[in-house]
Amino acid sequence: MQTNIRLVGLSGSLRKGSYNTMLLNSLQELLPADVSLDIISIAEIPMYNGDLDIPGMPERPQPVAAFRKSIEAADGMVIVSPEYNYSIPGVLKNAIDWASRGKDSPLLGKTVALMGASDGMWGTVRMHLAFQPVFLTLGMHQVKPEIMVSKAKDKFDEAGKLTDEVTKGLIKKQLNALKEVLLKQKDNK
Ligand code: FNR
Repeated sequence: MQTNIRLVGLSGSLRKGSYNTMLLNSLQELLPADVSLDIISIAEIPMYNGDLDIPGMPERPQPVAAFRKSIEAADGMVIVSPEYNYSIPGVLKNAIDWASRGKDSPLLGKTVALMGASDGMWGTVRMHLAFQPVFLTLGMHQVKPEIMVSKAKDKFDEAGKLTDEVTKGLIKKQLNALKEVLLKQKDNK
């Protein structure tokens, strides 16, 4: 039986040469069978402002509405992010905050694979920790293994492709785990 699982993926870094965006783009070649990944950008999302997020009024700023729709349309989510000051980058937290609002938040109960790349030794472990309370309050389920790419400079080629075989193996494991959970969720619907 052919089952198509749709993932939405985003990078927490906006810069052109971002290792995290390279990692996200590299996932296209590591996806399990019958799984697709739609990569979206958070670059245009404005700073959260409660005045633009009126309860009962679904007309949020257009980039926010589009962002929420993309998450809603996907079965599961992939977040690939750097660690800033031992935590989640502001641009990414801001996007998550926008998507978290309301009883119709597309994040509620979503299953997520979290990854991060850093040029340092610790491979974004503290960004992963900072996400735990966010996942908890939104009822999001994180699949394992967690992917933390340390010394990122050594793990991509000049074209921005992930070259490290150990990391690729772990990512395949994680994406397979995500697929399994999402298939079970579809079966129970
Ligand atoms: C960083 N960086 C960083 N690295 C780390 O391992 N732990 C940290 O706490 C921080 N803090 C931090 C704060 C800010 C404001 C910046 C700009 C950077 C370094 C960061 O991991 C490195 O620049 C990555 O290459 C950023 O990811 P992208 O843009 O390559 O995806």
